[in-house]
Amino acid sequence: MNNHKQTLHGPSHFDLNTGAKMPSVGLGTWKAPPGVVGQAVIAAVKAGYRHIDCAKVYDNEKEVGAALKELFSTGVVKRNEMFITSKLWCSDHAPEDVPKALTRTLEDLQLDYVDLYLMHWPFRTKPGACGFDPEIMLPLCLPETWTAMEGLYKSGKARAIGVSNFSTKKLQDLLKYAKVQPAVNQVECHPVWQQPSLHNLCKSTKIHLSAYSPLGSPGSWMKGEILKEPILNELAEKLQKSPAQIALRWGLQMGHSILPKSVNESRIKENLNLFDWFIPPDLFSKFLEIHQQRLLRGNFAVHETKSPYKSLEELWDGEI
Ligand code: A2P
Repeated sequence: MNNHKQTLHGPSHFDLNTGAKMPSVGLGTWKAPPGVVGQAVIAAVKAGYRHIDCAKVYDNEKEVGAALKELFSTGVVKRNEMFITSKLWCSDHAPEDVPKALTRTLEDLQLDYVDLYLMHWPFRTKPGACGFDPEIMLPLCLPETWTAMEGLYKSGKARAIGVSNFSTKKLQDLLKYAKVQPAVNQVECHPVWQQPSLHNLCKSTKIHLSAYSPLGSPGSWMKGEILKEPILNELAEKLQKSPAQIALRWGLQMGHSILPKSVNESRIKENLNLFDWFIPPDLFSKFLEIHQQRLLRGNFAVHETKSPYKSLEELWDGEI
């Protein structure tokens, strides 16, 4: 943890190893319900967001696509000013299914390309399945799936490729067989789950660490209570910011992009109001005192006989 490096002023963009610039704050769309997510995307872009984080499994990409179309056709923003991410679901890991999955996502989002396409999880389920039942788990084929992802990068339909939910060890393994290095590893990351060894590996290998659930998903089944964490509240009071802004600003100063989800216009704006202030070094060191806890543990991917991961230890390679 002591190796954490900090910068005083979080940038509006991070440079990816492809040469692309990724806006440092993206709107998360996980758990943003149909009928609401489109308005959230429109409110976010009008508030200044230029980065939207999507996934096939969030089951709302069609509505995100309709919102983007409206924003482009009314001249609010241009396609090349936006950074759009989507993710390959686990049921599409068979190499022949990978390009088909991206084609479906591009149709739903009404786009010609995504700026970033991620392998959503390091496990594989039966084609067509959308849940996590151990009955639908298949043996892993991560190198083959990654080779198919590399094909998408070469085709230009995914301008960058990466992974999500990869432990330090799984990322190290990927680096051994990848011909195209991943640009991003998107993982749970916030002051209560700071991921220091993954942070250090990402820094040294120029893979950008992007933080999902940067607020700990309050109110969801993940039961994240990080906004109640006393140190966040102490800093919020001292700096006259909200605990959410303190959590987000921590991520920026660590060099992570952050993907807060909100469907509420005032919270969408609050979550972007991060650039004209910073957490000074004497207060920043307080984050090292926070008790660490992974919130999204991934029990659904673990089974003694039916999953390649027999335990959470195996899924996260000890980072649990
Ligand atoms: P809402 O969509 O009603 O704003 P995470 O990004 O960590 O998954 O957290 C998402 C959750 O946090 C959602 O329930 C969202 O609710 C809530 N949320 C988003 N922004 C804030 C904020 N600034 N303060 C408190 N809660 C927030």
